[in-house]
Amino acid sequence: MRRYHLTTFGCQMNAHDSERIKGLLESAGLGEAQSANEADVIVFNTCTIRERADGRFLQHLSNARALKRRDPDRRIIVGGCWSESMKDALFEEHPEVDFAFGPGSIARLGDYIGAGGSLPRGHFSTFDEFAGDLPMRRERPHQAWLQISMGCNSVCSYCIVPSVRGRERSRPWRDLVDEAERLVADGVREITLLGQNVNSYGRDLPVDDRIGFADLIRRLDGIDGLDRLRYTSPHPKDFTADVIAALASCASACEHMHLPLQSGSSRVLKRMRRTYDRDRFVALVGRIRAAIPDIALTTDIIVGFPGESEQDFADTLAVYDEVGFDHAFTFVYSPRRGTEAAAMDDQVADVVKRERVERLVDLVQLHAHRRNAALVGTVQEVLVEGVSRTDSDVGRGRSRGNKTVLFSPPAPEGALVDVRVEAATSQTLRGVALVAARQ
Ligand code: SAH
Ligand code: SF4
Ligand code: F3S
Repeated sequence: MRRYHLTTFGCQMNAHDSERIKGLLESAGLGEAQSANEADVIVFNTCTIRERADGRFLQHLSNARALKRRDPDRRIIVGGCWSESMKDALFEEHPEVDFAFGPGSIARLGDYIGAGGSLPRGHFSTFDEFAGDLPMRRERPHQAWLQISMGCNSVCSYCIVPSVRGRERSRPWRDLVDEAERLVADGVREITLLGQNVNSYGRDLPVDDRIGFADLIRRLDGIDGLDRLRYTSPHPKDFTADVIAALASCASACEHMHLPLQSGSSRVLKRMRRTYDRDRFVALVGRIRAAIPDIALTTDIIVGFPGESEQDFADTLAVYDEVGFDHAFTFVYSPRRGTEAAAMDDQVADVVKRERVERLVDLVQLHAHRRNAALVGTVQEVLVEGVSRTDSDVGRGRSRGNKTVLFSPPAPEGALVDVRVEAATSQTLRGVALVAARQ
């Protein structure tokens, strides 16, 4: 049997797209190889969000090129966002690539394999069709992703996503409820809704069959056997009262929200075209916490956006401190070809960016530890994902607030266990399982 090896870069969208890619390759009769070395077909699902993502992938591609030189029958296939950003120029710069496709045309990979590689080499389009009906090889038995929309209508000046994933398209809600029901029937208890801008869901659906994000949450919450509902990423601008109310009232909606701040300076936020300012963000957090008091909040922050002054950065630290997030992904600003911010003439020097991000990371750690320490003594419901990586007598899972919890005695994967938290670091909670696991 011919074998493939897939390497995935980037965000959860890509991780989920890769489940479809694996499903397609396997239904075409290919088996999975343990390494690119042993594979006849080397596949990459790429990301291009920052320069580093490009760099890491290009390193892998050059290894694959060396393998192909040794065995010219090998095939190299490149999908994902970097691929879409390059389009046909990809084949000029990297003639070793046999086939390439964008994130909106995953199904074309199946056509290519089915045709024995006799199709044209490139298939790019920012939107072809949802991958919802494609075969899928799910990575985890009890957790699943559900793509509710694709693309993004925002115009954040630093971001390349709208140009590689296209305009926002929502999947019809009935398809989503059907897919969620199928997943639950198959043993899934936790579903994470995926979209670049999940809470603007539905606006492009036909009027006579349109529901918004709040109603979607309510309908999915009604599915018997679905214990946990998560979603990522929402945009602060689309947190209407209706959405907050739905999240607060639906039992399955987990008490965790990833709410990207990007910057705490209103001046920078304006240049980023985020459409909210510092005060509106802080007020939103206030409304969310009033409705869902124990919610865990995580965020994304970009350091060193063009023109960011020491005062702007101090504003970011101040908002971070005021909100007291549970955790954050911190990014050094990276200019992306074709974006508005890349053309701004006041780029911040690398040394300044690096020094600022270090200060921010210290603050992130401080708050992470503080927020976790406040949970010592509480009981957290944990969905078991396995055992500790270092000790198989210790169970490992996630709380509803999305924190990693280590506990003993261990319990079967997929069980829900109540754990009394006894200790906390900035990364994990540790505790004791209280009652027999709910299977
Ligand atoms: N659609 C999501 C995620 C976008 S990409 C959202 O809007 O929340 C994930 C994160 O990467 C962004 O939130 C942003 O913090 C970061 N990012 C995007 N473009 C970047 C760039 N050019 N340089 C550095 N970080 C960037
Ligand atoms: Fe990029 Fe902004 Fe869209 Fe997020 S909302 S994907 S940061 S353009
Ligand atoms: Fe990267 Fe594309 Fe996701 S650029 S972050 S894989 S949407």
